[in-house]
Amino acid sequence: MSGRIPREFIDELLARADIVELIDARVPLTKAGRDFKACCPFHNEKTPSFTVSQTKQFYHCFGCGANGSAIGFLMEFEHLSFREAIEELAQSTGLEIPDTGPARPEDTLTPALLDAVADANRFFKEQLRQHEMSAEAIRYLKERGLSGEVAAQFELGLAPSGWDSLAQTAKGDDKTLDLMAKAGLVARKDTGRVYDRFRSRIIFPIHDYKGRVVAFGGRILGDGEPKYLNSPETPIFQKGSELYNLHRARSNIAQQGHSIVVEGYMDVVALAQHGVENAVATLGTATTPRHLERLFRLSPSIIFCFDGDRAGRAAAWRALETALPELGGGRQISFLFLPDGDDPDSLVRREGGDTFRDLAAKATSLPDFLFEKLAGETDMDRIDGRARLVELAKPLLARLPEGPLRELMHQRLREETGVQSTETPRASKGRQPPTRRPTPSQRLSPIATAISLLLQQPGLATRFALPEHLDDSTDEPGLQLLITLHRMAGGESQLTTGALLERFRDSEDASTLEKLAGKDHLLGEEDFPPFFSETLLTIQEQALGKSIDKLVSRAGHEELDETSKARLAELYRDRQLLRQEREELGK
Ligand code: UTP
Ligand code: MN
Repeated sequence: MSGRIPREFIDELLARADIVELIDARVPLTKAGRDFKACCPFHNEKTPSFTVSQTKQFYHCFGCGANGSAIGFLMEFEHLSFREAIEELAQSTGLEIPDTGPARPEDTLTPALLDAVADANRFFKEQLRQHEMSAEAIRYLKERGLSGEVAAQFELGLAPSGWDSLAQTAKGDDKTLDLMAKAGLVARKDTGRVYDRFRSRIIFPIHDYKGRVVAFGGRILGDGEPKYLNSPETPIFQKGSELYNLHRARSNIAQQGHSIVVEGYMDVVALAQHGVENAVATLGTATTPRHLERLFRLSPSIIFCFDGDRAGRAAAWRALETALPELGGGRQISFLFLPDGDDPDSLVRREGGDTFRDLAAKATSLPDFLFEKLAGETDMDRIDGRARLVELAKPLLARLPEGPLRELMHQRLREETGVQSTETPRASKGRQPPTRRPTPSQRLSPIATAISLLLQQPGLATRFALPEHLDDSTDEPGLQLLITLHRMAGGESQLTTGALLERFRDSEDASTLEKLAGKDHLLGEEDFPPFFSETLLTIQEQALGKSIDKLVSRAGHEELDETSKARLAELYRDRQLLRQEREELGK
C-alpha cells in the first residue's frame, strides 16, 4: 500500500500518543503507585500483574511476559499489522502518516471514496426499509431463514430496481458521480448516462478490518444470472486481501483459537445467526497468501469449509497449495468437506450451530488431506505406484518451510511408501544456525544488565557515558547493542522505553530487548543511576581484564615490544584505579 514509515514519525507518534489512555480505553486501568494496573488481557489471571507505565510509555505483564509500546499493544490486542496499528494511532493523535512510498495519487482519494461508499451503504439500508420493493426483499430474506436481527447486524440492504436510483442521489453533482464511479458503484455510458452497478439486489456490505465499508456484494432475489455481483477492485478494495466479516469475527476468532473460511456471504450470515461467529468468506476469489496471513495473525488454526463435490475438492487443493509455504510455527489448517448438495448455510439451518461446530472439530487435517489425495492418484499396492507417490509429494513438501512440520511430513511419506530417504539433505552451509534464544536468566551479564537499565530509564544515557577501553571486547555478546542503544537513548529526541523498543522491532534483537525491558530489578527509580554506574564499572573492569589477558598470553610465546609493555602497565594501573574507585563507592 505504501512505503516505509520513517523512524522519526514513529518516534513522534509515540511521543504524542499516551499508552495509559490508549490501554485504559480497552482494558480499564487502576492506579498503583506511579504505574497503572489491570488483569492481563493476554492471559487468564485473577490478580492483576499487567502494568502500564506512563513515563516509560510501556506495558508489561509480570505474569506472562507480554510487553511493548503503544504500537505493540494495538498489534496484540486488536490483532493489527504494524502498519494498521500505526494508522490507528495516527488517527487518534491527529497525525498524518508521511507519504514516503512511490507517489500515491489515490491517497487523497481514499477518504472521499470511503465516504461515497458509506453514503451508498446508508442508501441501500434505507431502501430495504422503505422502497416499494422492500416487502419482496424482506420476504426473500425471511424465506432464506434470516432474522431481522442478523440482517441488521450485517447491515443488509437493498439496491432497488431502476437504472439509476443510487446515481440520482448525487443530484447531478459531477464530483459525486465521479467518486461513485471510482468506487465502482455506478458506470458511465458513452451516451453520458450513468447507471447503477447494483440493481434489484440484496446488498451485503463488505467491511475492511476496521469496520469501514469498502465494497458491496449483491444477490439477485431468486433465480437469475449472475447470481452475485461484486464491487470491482478499487483503491479501497482488493479482493485478494479482504475477507467478508473479518471485522466482526476478529475477536471471536482469537477467542476460539481458529477461524472458519467459507465461500459465500449467505454462509457467513447463516452461521452467525446460529451462533458460529468466527466465520469469514473469501470474496469470489481463491484464497491468497494475504488472506492466510490475516487469519493466522488472529489464531494459529484455520478450517476451510468446502463442498464435498469435485469442484469443492479442487478448490480445497488450491487452498492447500497456497497454504504450504505459510505453515510451520505451530500453524494448522484443516478441511471440512460438506455432504453433497450442502453448503454451510443449508447445513447450519437444518442441523444447527452445534452440529456444524462438531463437524468443524472433526475436519480433515492438511497432512491427511494431502496424503489421501495423492494416494488416491496412485496404486499403492504397486512398488512403482508408491514410488510415484514419493515423486508427487516431494515438490509439495519442499514448499513447507524448514522445521518440525516438514520433517514429520517426510517421516509420514517414508512410512506410507517405505522409501527411506525422501528429503535430499541440504548443503550444510545453506543451513540456518539454530535460533539462539538468550533467555535472560535470573542473573544477567553486566552488559545485559546495563542494556536493561538503559531501556527502563533511557535518561541514564545522558548522565553516564559508556566506558572507554572496550576495544578488545567488541565480540562480547550484546556490547554492540549496548553501544547502539546508548547512542539512541542519548540522542536529542527524548525516547521512552516504548519508543526505544519500537526502533528494534524488525531487528533480531527485538525479543531479547523486550525481555530486558520487562526485567524487574527490584529497584526504586532513584536507585537506577547508582546501579547503572556500578554496572558500567563492572563492564569496564571486565574489558580491562580481557585486554590484560590478551597481552599476557601473547607475552607467553613472544617478546612484547616496548609499546605493548607500556600498554600492559597502563592497563594494570587502570584496573587498579578502577578497583579502588569501586571500593570507595561500595563504602
Ligand atoms: P455460491 O454459488 O456457492 O452461492 O457462491 P451461495 O453463497 O451458496 O449463494 P446462495 O446461497 O445461493 O445465495 C459462493 C460465493 O461466490 C461468489 C459470491 O461471493 C458467493 O457468495 N459468487 C458466486 C460470485 O461472485 N458470483 C456469482 O455469480 C456466484
Ligand atoms: Mn448457498
